[in-house]
Amino acid sequence: MRLFIAIELPDEIKKLLEGMRTDIPGSRWVPLEQIHLTISFLGEVDDTTVDLLTGALATIKAPGFNLCFSSTGCFPDRRRPRVLWVGLEPEPLLNSLASLVRESVLACNIPQEERPFSPHITLARLKLPTPREVDAFLDQSQKQVPPVMVREFILFRSLLTSQGAVHTPVKTFALSPP
Ligand code: 2AM
Repeated sequence: MRLFIAIELPDEIKKLLEGMRTDIPGSRWVPLEQIHLTISFLGEVDDTTVDLLTGALATIKAPGFNLCFSSTGCFPDRRRPRVLWVGLEPEPLLNSLASLVRESVLACNIPQEERPFSPHITLARLKLPTPREVDAFLDQSQKQVPPVMVREFILFRSLLTSQGAVHTPVKTFALSPP
């Protein structure tokens, strides 16, 4: 199955993030139920490795933390934006959780990207050429999205359908009290 590991956000936060949408021709906005913070993308994993992985992830001992939202941004850069996102204030406990997850994933022989973890919440994907309306999204000042308490992380299955991806939690892993 196709898997990724992410932090789920409360519905009211997802609604506020959805409220940051702006009018951009050709943009594909992430549906509310799919908005999440990706910690690790795994791709296709066989059933035996999934069992190994859930066992490894269950041994992670890390404290919970609060996430604070920062400004909007894009990948790969402002000249050719393909992914529009909202960023997060630096949080060392999130980075150390991502490192622990990465170690567990690699220990199960699942390849991981070399590039450093860059926490973001994808809100939209764009096609080239870049519509000038993107500037309005990137220039918006932070809306009042309150901090989120993170107390768990989730292994998700992503089923690709003709209707788009369907994300289903496979297993939830608790973080210790901060
Ligand atoms: P991102 O859009 O938040 O960066 C589930 O597909 C999640 O895995 C996506 O939200 C995406 O995170 C992340 N991801 C990372 N690499 C991916 C890839 N090669 N293909 C699909 N999703 C990927």
